[in-house]
Amino acid sequence: MDKFTIINAIPSKDRLTILNLYNNSFPLSTWNKKYWNSFFKNSLRQPVFFAIKINNQYAGFVLGRVGKDTSIMLLSTLVVSPTYRGNRYGSILIQKFLETTFSFPNIHKVILHFRDFNAWRLEPYYAHLDFINHKIEGTYSNGEKKHCVEIHKKDFLN
Ligand SMILES: CC(C)(COP(=O)(O)OP(=O)(O)OC[C@H]1O[C@@H](n2cnc3c(N)ncnc32)[C@H](O)[C@@H]1OP(=O)(O)O)[C@@H](O)C(=O)NCCC(=O)NCCS
Repeated sequence: MDKFTIINAIPSKDRLTILNLYNNSFPLSTWNKKYWNSFFKNSLRQPVFFAIKINNQYAGFVLGRVGKDTSIMLLSTLVVSPTYRGNRYGSILIQKFLETTFSFPNIHKVILHFRDFNAWRLEPYYAHLDFINHKIEGTYSNGEKKHCVEIHKKDFLN
């Protein structure tokens, strides 16, 4: 594993770089700048962000915010750049994300969604990270099944 640093806020000059990292990883469901910026504009939604930097480059990041039900944090995305995958950076980002999220008194659960095409990789990946209750929760706009997993504060803290 290379020497890395973890940051918990994006310098505004780097926002597009990280959006590009996301869009390159999810070419079928890219985010536009307006949606991306919405994560950082509304502190009431308690955005949680962590990124890993190696040699002054972004190797990965995790991002989430609360939804309508303010006891639930939605983990919106986790990305590790292809060059750095398989080095536990994803696990480190998830750990930081959960530690911070569950330090908020109002949050009792973190949920995340993934697409059917990715399910064969991500269902076991998140199970390995102690996410539970895998289920299908409706469909995306292209008809693809929407998978959901969750982790509870009481289980994370135990
Ligand atoms: C998913 C992703 C973030 C994983 O990041 P990563 O840094 O390569 O993953 P890690 O190296 O942290 O893997 C963590 C652990 O999970 C294990 N693991 C990895 N893939 C696994 C799988 N399919 N099933 C079970 N365990 C798996 C690893 O062996 C490792 O185990 P260890 O903790 O015992 O060493 C990365 O592959 C990625 O960015 N993919 C594209 C974007 C994506 O699909 N993101 C998820 C959106 S919800």
